[in-house]
Amino acid sequence: MSYPFEIHNQSSSSINEGRVGWRCPSNIAIVKYWGKHGRQLPRNASLSFTLSNAYTDTYISYRKNKNIGLGLSFLFENEPNKPFEDKIRSFLESVIEYFPVLGQLHLDISSSNSFPHSSGIASSASAMAAIAMCICEIDQQIAETESTQVDIKKVSYLARLGSGSASRSLVPLLGAWGEHDAIEGSSDLFAVDVSNVHDVFKTFHDDILIVSAAEKSVSSTAGHALMDGNIYSEARYKQANDRITQLKEILKSGDVDAFGKLAEDEAMTLHALMMCSDPSYVLMEPGTLDMIREIREFRQKTGTPIYFTLDAGPNIHLLYPDSVTKEAEDFVTKTLLPYTANGRVIKDKVGNGPQTLV
Ligand code: DP6
Repeated sequence: MSYPFEIHNQSSSSINEGRVGWRCPSNIAIVKYWGKHGRQLPRNASLSFTLSNAYTDTYISYRKNKNIGLGLSFLFENEPNKPFEDKIRSFLESVIEYFPVLGQLHLDISSSNSFPHSSGIASSASAMAAIAMCICEIDQQIAETESTQVDIKKVSYLARLGSGSASRSLVPLLGAWGEHDAIEGSSDLFAVDVSNVHDVFKTFHDDILIVSAAEKSVSSTAGHALMDGNIYSEARYKQANDRITQLKEILKSGDVDAFGKLAEDEAMTLHALMMCSDPSYVLMEPGTLDMIREIREFRQKTGTPIYFTLDAGPNIHLLYPDSVTKEAEDFVTKTLLPYTANGRVIKDKVGNGPQTLV
């Protein structure tokens, strides 16, 4: 597949050094990306809320490093971190064909998360999105382009190559990645924002209840690979695309109950797919199931529109409209906190996407 953006030729640039910095949020998928092929291409379309309080801040100072190739130093929360550095180096080396300037730069990268590293929150989406924003801005500065605005589609394309879900963290409010008839302008190559969304979804909450901060036993990348041999995979890809069609209508109508049902069905499907992979595995913990039961009981008893979703881990994402914030707070404090690891909750909300820091 060809690259749909201009590749900058930097050979005559007079810019030799500079500094950029971006804050990029995480996101929570309502319809999940689970299964991929080729070079980071999704098997089905996915749709997520862009968050605001769970984010990564990344700063990159760059200088020309002619004829030496890509040079890199990496600090995570002000400490050297070899595994992260190696991951970023191999990612950046893999995209030099699109960003030739990287082959002539030394980069001092420094990154930190707003949430504790050991919180069990997937940080690859916000981390890869922040690096992609920085790299695209550096590329643009050195190319001395007329426009100072980075092209979000190009950033999303780059972020996707680092981690599929990162592609969706670049757009405000709701992002969709993967070609789908119901989403205007959608593509397998980058995410786009979702238009025609009822106001109730623009202030939605996502309280992330940390059940376990331990590292996952099976990574998302390995989980995607297991979908290739899963006998339900084709039915699943069709189901996900059908759910995008339904969700698009729900988002327009503002039907919170239909939204919550679909979100929960998707969470259960994702984990069911893990349980029927070969080899099978389970990422939910007893506390996850206890909270699911409590949420459903509470909803049935009180009629309060509070729902959950899960990503590829045991933590509960509690989803609810802004109008029931007080009820949700009381419910979390009285009922759900005992199931969390040391009372850990990250209170998050739908957000506006990347912010510049420099
Ligand atoms: C369950 O984006 O982490 O969170 O592309 O291999 O980096 P890679 O996978 P990743 O997978 C995310 C899976 C998910 C669902 C989703 O965010 O859509």
